[in-house]
Amino acid sequence: MFDPFFHIHHLCEVDSTNDRAKELARQGAPEGTLIVAETQRAGRGRRGRSWSSPHGGLYFSLILRPPIPPEYASQLVVVTAASLYRALHRRSLPVSLKWPNDLVAGGKKLAGILVEGGFASQGLSFAVVGVGVNVNGQPPIEGATSIEALTASPQGKEEILQDILGEMKAGYLAYLAEGIEPALADYRRGCITLNREVIIIGPEGKARAKAIDVGSRGELLVEYPDGCRRLVFADEVSLRTC
Ligand code: BTN
Repeated sequence: MFDPFFHIHHLCEVDSTNDRAKELARQGAPEGTLIVAETQRAGRGRRGRSWSSPHGGLYFSLILRPPIPPEYASQLVVVTAASLYRALHRRSLPVSLKWPNDLVAGGKKLAGILVEGGFASQGLSFAVVGVGVNVNGQPPIEGATSIEALTASPQGKEEILQDILGEMKAGYLAYLAEGIEPALADYRRGCITLNREVIIIGPEGKARAKAIDVGSRGELLVEYPDGCRRLVFADEVSLRTC
């Protein structure tokens, strides 16, 4: 039985659940509207990448309407990543968070998050939180894994969805009541990027640095070999761990 916070639209196929959720949000769909699809024709990831969406995976987008300024929308990535981490960790899966929006297991990608905002003159009018989890089958992408591959047994997608949504709702309500700190604490705990050497790829080229901390808007604090520190934001750079 699903929580009444969620208004579920279950689709067999869609271009992208994020695009469908954004359309519904613009038409006034309430917070908690959830688009779930069995497969996506044009699933999207961060930085213009595509998200392969064969049958067997979990693909959904949740409409939220948090009363926060647009520049805080990136906190929803932290809240969602921490919620996914808790839900999958509780299933004894060997998951970690990889900054900014990946869940990995055994060095391979298991899930990703794409948060997109809808803006109005008075600020953030909605956010769409898109989540893709490789559940059953082996994703046709090098460097990706699935829950089935990790556990060597096929998984019930409905139950996994319920667990994740339970954690997402709890995480979101805690965020509204207490701010970003509880989610940030979980994020830092699960984040394998921290204390590692990384290569930052940005408009100025590539640079090696050490990942030191994650800040309150989900930005990464890095330290260069000369001791200089800088904040990097997920929409400005891509990162490779060394
Ligand atoms: C990433 O790793 O870059 C983010 C991937 C996010 C994929 C999900 S699948 C459901 C939702 N709809 C999309 O088109 N993308 C997100």
